[in-house]
Amino acid sequence: MKKLILANLKMYFNTKEEIDNYLKEVNIHKNNFIVFPSVIYLDKFLKQNFICGVQNISASQSGSYTGENSALSVKNLGASYAIIGHSEVRKNFKETDEIINQKIKQALQNKLIPILCVGESLDAYHQNQTKQIINMQISKALKDIDKEIIVSYEPVWAIGTGITPSNEEIDDIINYIKILFKYKVKVLYGGSVSDKNIQNLNNINSVDGFLIGKSATEPSSLKKIIEVARM
Ligand code: 13P
Repeated sequence: MKKLILANLKMYFNTKEEIDNYLKEVNIHKNNFIVFPSVIYLDKFLKQNFICGVQNISASQSGSYTGENSALSVKNLGASYAIIGHSEVRKNFKETDEIINQKIKQALQNKLIPILCVGESLDAYHQNQTKQIINMQISKALKDIDKEIIVSYEPVWAIGTGITPSNEEIDDIINYIKILFKYKVKVLYGGSVSDKNIQNLNNINSVDGFLIGKSATEPSSLKKIIEVARM
């Protein structure tokens, strides 16, 4: 089964040369993945017909919000998806579950598909609290929302560390998330997915796709991941 591939480019590319080179190298794969560039490069990707999303949106509709990007503005530019509640945003911007709830409402109102990121810290993992935390993150994020979204399970301790949970652990959490929903929700896995472990991770049938950070910024790794997960 073909799985979804989402490339979260975070803030890895910082020069015109880097981004132009990336665009050129991954252009042939553009029908096989969804790219989440920094908003300043969003238009470049859209002009070359990549399927795009953004890494964050404002919880507000419009007005005096310095430094923010509204769901309406990114939708009008041509983006289709918004990552919401990424652990780096939760931490660096002190984003609460209530703010995440408002952002999901903004995304849905403006016809962007929200990708809600959830996941436990290493401490919570060791204390066996993963399901409890995820249940709380999802119920708070989706308060008063009945439209469909996509969920990405990203254990905080697996992001950028080269460490992943076992396939059994991922499968258990993904299945747990799926039973929390009335509809057939798509659930992705994110956290240190690479060209080295994709063959193994791709065996988890419950996983509908992968949200990839660092490895997605390396065209050869992205190509390998696509070859395995899109077969
Ligand atoms: P890495 O793939 O770099 O671990 O990042 C995962 C992630 O945060 C995707 O949103």
